[in-house]
Amino acid sequence: MCLGSFADASQGLSKEIEQLEGLFTVETQKLKQITDHFVNELEKGLSVKGGSIPMNPTWVMSYPTGYETGTFLALDMGGTNLRVCQITLTDQKSEFDIIQSKYRMPEELKTGQADELWEYIADCLMQFIETHHGDVSKMDTLPLGFTFSYPATQNYIDEGVLQRWTKGFDIAGVEGENVVPMFEAALAAKGVPIKLTALINDTTGTLIASAYTDTKMKIGCIFGTGCNAAYMEDCGSIPKLAHLDVSPDTPMAINCEWGAFDNEHLVLPRTQYDVTIDNESPRPGQQAFEKMIAGLYLGELFRLVMVDLHDNHSAHIFSGQDISKLRRPYTLDSSFLSAIEEDPFENLSETRDLFHTKLGIEANPAELELVRRTAELIGTRAARLSACGVAAICKKKGYTSCHVGADGSVFNKYPHFKARGAQALREILDWPEKTDPKEEDPIEILAAEDGSGVGAALIAALTLKRVKEGNM
Ligand code: GLC
Repeated sequence: MCLGSFADASQGLSKEIEQLEGLFTVETQKLKQITDHFVNELEKGLSVKGGSIPMNPTWVMSYPTGYETGTFLALDMGGTNLRVCQITLTDQKSEFDIIQSKYRMPEELKTGQADELWEYIADCLMQFIETHHGDVSKMDTLPLGFTFSYPATQNYIDEGVLQRWTKGFDIAGVEGENVVPMFEAALAAKGVPIKLTALINDTTGTLIASAYTDTKMKIGCIFGTGCNAAYMEDCGSIPKLAHLDVSPDTPMAINCEWGAFDNEHLVLPRTQYDVTIDNESPRPGQQAFEKMIAGLYLGELFRLVMVDLHDNHSAHIFSGQDISKLRRPYTLDSSFLSAIEEDPFENLSETRDLFHTKLGIEANPAELELVRRTAELIGTRAARLSACGVAAICKKKGYTSCHVGADGSVFNKYPHFKARGAQALREILDWPEKTDPKEEDPIEILAAEDGSGVGAALIAALTLKRVKEGNM
């Protein structure tokens, strides 16, 4: 079933639409099969031998109580923006004050030199501190939670060896290295009075920030430029941490890095378009699941379908038109698809205008219908596949009732994403139909608290507390 479908009779492109439906629709049985494989892969990732999903221990070893206090800086180096916050956790339970600034992450930095990246980040931090604290020479060093949302191996919470870049980043000399000394060297060079206390993933931040205000929260997810989740595991269920001298029920947040699910291509229903995205990405063969779901790729998938239908199918959409703008890779982002799916008009006039202004293409009514249906299919597939990851963690942990905190541009802004994901969860987990539409589902995916701000501050606070108590 797909929500928000545009069901008018087509005038000539019904064969193409049908073919796309066949390619992009993921039926319940397939979702279940993917979920079962996912559960096994989560287990494998925790084993000594490992698997395709990294399942990184994060050294976040407790939930917050709500009574954490102190002032912390938080730096978020996500896929799109750089955000700096100062968070004060007050002595009122689960209450905090926050000031923040956003800086654009220049596109060139993502594929540039490592030094330039760290310098840029240090400059943003310095600018933030000078604005809010004045003379830096007179202030105390502030503890920082650094949200570095890429797969990183951590033996301690204040280090992170980058396993590989994801989300289109490709900066030489960082993979395989601990990013903290590089970052600290840039801070020291500029005299920025900051001490990194914890390096965290955005999903772990989301989990902790959400659990701060809602104790039913058991999983933190990001559906944004990238796609990933974190949850709390017992150390006794993490064979690769068997060397730790802790009791088996000691909690440890695991950053799954589930974007790497099915890198072996065993279960995901990949289309030729997914294969092209992968082949043309800076890291072919990696992040198979993420490349079918995350915001970075949705617009590109759509673009590839359109170009293919123009060039290679008998229908030859946009026939006789100059599609050179459409031929540019990554020219459309997921907000383009959102706008198409949101077009309220029967005749899709907003979509027609969008094609005209953004791509210089005049789309006729049959083409517009195909465009709308393609956006729905890509958006629906992304939401349904995401639900497999959530269902898999719940199955692994035996959670039959809990809340899942989710953040990211796709979750927050993509039309119908939440409803489609919830529908898929219902199918995977065989929940009976609701009698009252307002009734909560046993497992609800809800908008999360601010993970890379409040979550990072909380993790820094929990870390300082653990150090003070003399624990690892
Ligand atoms: C990518 C990153 C992961 C992050 C996710 C969401 O999958 O590898 O660390 O959590 O994007 O930002």
